[in-house]
Amino acid sequence: MPDTLTIIDNRTGKRYEIPILYGTYPRHDAAIRGTDLRPIRASDEDFGLLSYDPAFLNTAACKSAITFIDGDRGILRYRGYPIEQLAEHSTYLETAYLLLHGELPTAAELEEWTREITHHTLIHESIKKFMDGFHYDAHPMGMLVSTVAALSTFYPEARNVNDPETRRRQIVRLIAKMPTIAAFAYRHRVGLPYAYPDNELSFTGNFLNMMFRMTEPKYRPDPVLERALDVLFILHADHEQNCSTNAMRNVGSSLADPYVCVAAAAAALYGPLHGGANEQVLRMLQEIGSKSRVPEYIARAKRGEFRLMGFGHRVYKNYDPRARILKEMAIRVLDITGRSPLLDLAMELERIALEDEYFVSRRLYPNVDFYSGIIYQAMGFPIEMFPVLFAIPRTAGWLAQWQEMLTDPEQRIARPRQIYVGPDARDYVPLDKRGGRAAATRGDDVGRVASVSDTTL
Ligand code: ACO
Repeated sequence: MPDTLTIIDNRTGKRYEIPILYGTYPRHDAAIRGTDLRPIRASDEDFGLLSYDPAFLNTAACKSAITFIDGDRGILRYRGYPIEQLAEHSTYLETAYLLLHGELPTAAELEEWTREITHHTLIHESIKKFMDGFHYDAHPMGMLVSTVAALSTFYPEARNVNDPETRRRQIVRLIAKMPTIAAFAYRHRVGLPYAYPDNELSFTGNFLNMMFRMTEPKYRPDPVLERALDVLFILHADHEQNCSTNAMRNVGSSLADPYVCVAAAAAALYGPLHGGANEQVLRMLQEIGSKSRVPEYIARAKRGEFRLMGFGHRVYKNYDPRARILKEMAIRVLDITGRSPLLDLAMELERIALEDEYFVSRRLYPNVDFYSGIIYQAMGFPIEMFPVLFAIPRTAGWLAQWQEMLTDPEQRIARPRQIYVGPDARDYVPLDKRGGRAAATRGDDVGRVASVSDTTL
C-alpha cells in the first residue's frame, strides 16, 4: 500500500497524489505537507488550496524530538522518558538538561550544569532598581514578563541567536535568573527586602530561600517541600506545542533574542485558559466554599455559565498524567502543612464531575492545574504567584523548543495564511463625502462579512 493520499478536485476533475509523512509512531503522527495542497487550483489565477485551521486544532507546525504526548492514553514523555519515572528519580535541573541536550547528563556533566546555573542566579543591580519601579500591588506575572523582556537590554550579544555558544550562555542565564526575578517580584509586592540567592542550596531550595527568608542568618528549606517543588517543576518543564511554546517559537522565528521570546511565551502563559488556570482553580474552589455547593456549580458548568477551571485539555482526552502525580503529592504535602478544606472540596468536585455524563461524554478530566494550586497554597505561595511558578520551570521547555526551531533547516519565519472575508476593492471616500450613507455602507459590509458561512469558506 503506497503511503500517499489521493485527492480528486471535483471542481476540475483533477486527481492529486500527496505523500504522507510520519513521526516516530506512524499510527500516531501521520501528516501531509500543507504546501502539497498548493498545486490544487480551480483556475490559473487561483492561489492554490489552503487548509483552514483556526487555533491549530489539526496542524503540526514543526517536527520535534523533545516531548511526546498521547492524549487519548494519558501518556507524557520527555525525550522518551516517562514523566512518572522522571518525577520519581530525577531533579528539575537534570530534567532541564535532558530537555535541552536530548540525553540525561553524566555525573560530571550534571555537576558542571548545576554549578553553571547556580553561579548565574544573581541579577544586575539595575534590574532590581527597575523592579522597584512597579506599583506596590503589581501582579507578579506582569512584573516577570516585563523584567525578563528587560534582560534583553542587559545582554545585547543575545541577539546573535545563530551562534551556539551565545545561545548556550543565554539559556543558562534564563534558567538561573527566572527564580530570582520571580522571588523579587513577590517580595516587591509584599514590601519585603529582596533576599539574594544562596549558592549552597538546591535550585528549588534556593528559590524557597529567596521567597520566604526573613531575618534568620541561614534559610533551611523543609526537605519534603523542597522535593515537592522540584517534582512540580519537573512536571511543568515542557508540554510540546502548547499556546506559550507556540508563542516562543513564533517570536523566535523572527530571530528575536531569547529574553523577549521568553517574555512573549510567559505573556501567553499568563492567560486564564493556559497557565493562569491554577490561579483560577483556587479562586473557584474558594468561591464554591463547601462540598454542599458542588452540585450547584456542576449544574452551572453544564449550562455553560462557567468553566470548571482545571478541567479539560486540548490534547488530553484522558486523565492528565501530571494531575495523577499531583493528586498524590497534594495529600503528602498537606500531611505536613496541615489539611486544607480546599483539597477535600477539590476531590469531591472531581468525584462528582467524573461521574457526570456531561464531563464523561466530553472527556473532560482534571488537568495539571487542578491540584497544583492547592499544593502551592499549602506551601505558602500566594495565588498571584501560581502562574509565575509555572513559568519558572517551563523556561527550560521553551528554550529547548526555541533551540530546536533555530537549528531545524525546515523552519523559517512563522507566517500563517488567512482566508480574506472583508470588502472587495472600493474607492476611497473623502471625509466631506462620507456622512450617513457611508456609515450605512460600512454597516452593510459588516453584515456581509458576518454572513459568510463556513461552507462559503
Ligand atoms: N468546564 C466545563 N465545560 C468545559 C470545560 C470546562 N473546564 N472545558 C471544556 N468544556 C466543554 C466546552 O464547553 C465544550 O462543550 P460543547 O461541545 O458542548 O460546546 C467542550 O467541552 C469542548 O471544549 P472546547 O472549549 O472546545 O475545548 P478546547 O480544546 O478548545 O479547550 C481548554 C481546552 C481551554 C483547556 C478548556 O477545556 C478549558 O477552558 N478548561 C478550563 C481552563 C483550564 O483548566 N485550562 C488549563 C489547561 S492546561 C494548561 O494550559 C497547562
